[in-house]
Amino acid sequence: MNSERIKALASDVFRDDYVLDVGCDHGYLAIYLKKNNLCAQVYASDISEKALLQAKSNFQKYNVDITSFVSDGFQNIPVYFNTAVISGMGTKTIFDILNSVIKPNKLIISSHNEYYKLRKGLNKLGYKIVDEQAIYENKHYYNIMLCLKKPQRLNHKELLFGISNNEEYYQYLLDKNREIIKKIPFLKRGKLWYYNHVLKGLIERK
Ligand SMILES: C[S@@+](CC[C@H](N)C(=O)[O-])C[C@H]1O[C@@H](n2cnc3c(N)ncnc32)[C@H](O)[C@@H]1O
Repeated sequence: MNSERIKALASDVFRDDYVLDVGCDHGYLAIYLKKNNLCAQVYASDISEKALLQAKSNFQKYNVDITSFVSDGFQNIPVYFNTAVISGMGTKTIFDILNSVIKPNKLIISSHNEYYKLRKGLNKLGYKIVDEQAIYENKHYYNIMLCLKKPQRLNHKELLFGISNNEEYYQYLLDKNREIIKKIPFLKRGKLWYYNHVLKGLIERK
């Protein structure tokens, strides 16, 4: 529960937020928020009854009173919330959830794939990505996006690689790209060379 990733998600939550942790699974984020009194209220939900049972058992273990719901996304949530955390899912599932009539003022999003599509879709739904964190944990980078209900049109480079200031993250992507380039035929390398050019620019900017 003391993971850097959970702390980073929590750092985007403010004291007056009414938070719904969608797909809470183990419930650690909700527990962390409640224990540290970081928001006005926190609720937890999950589509899986089994996951929610696990969360409830953790709520007991950590002695916190957190109301939870079995729910697909925002469906049938009978309480007020203005902030939704949707973390640890793929971009497709995230948009299945966000394509609802309910549009919270604030989203904290952490997907494990398709970031270009994610950023573009968030802008299209009327969300501005105001901050991005790239958090390294368990040999993996997690992108965490703080979004507010405001207009924004990120440019192509921002859609590709986001607005984080984390040079180590961009260096990690560059190294990974260089490895991939070596393994593919010369004529198919164009897009990856372009990505490398953009990444180098992000690393060298000051
Ligand atoms: C990998 S876990 C992530 C747990 C936690 N959010 C985190 O970031 O550590 C993904 C959770 O999302 C839940 N989930 C998947 N689709 C969902 C949906 N449409 N609505 C609510 N929960 C969903 C799964 O049941 C699972 O417990």
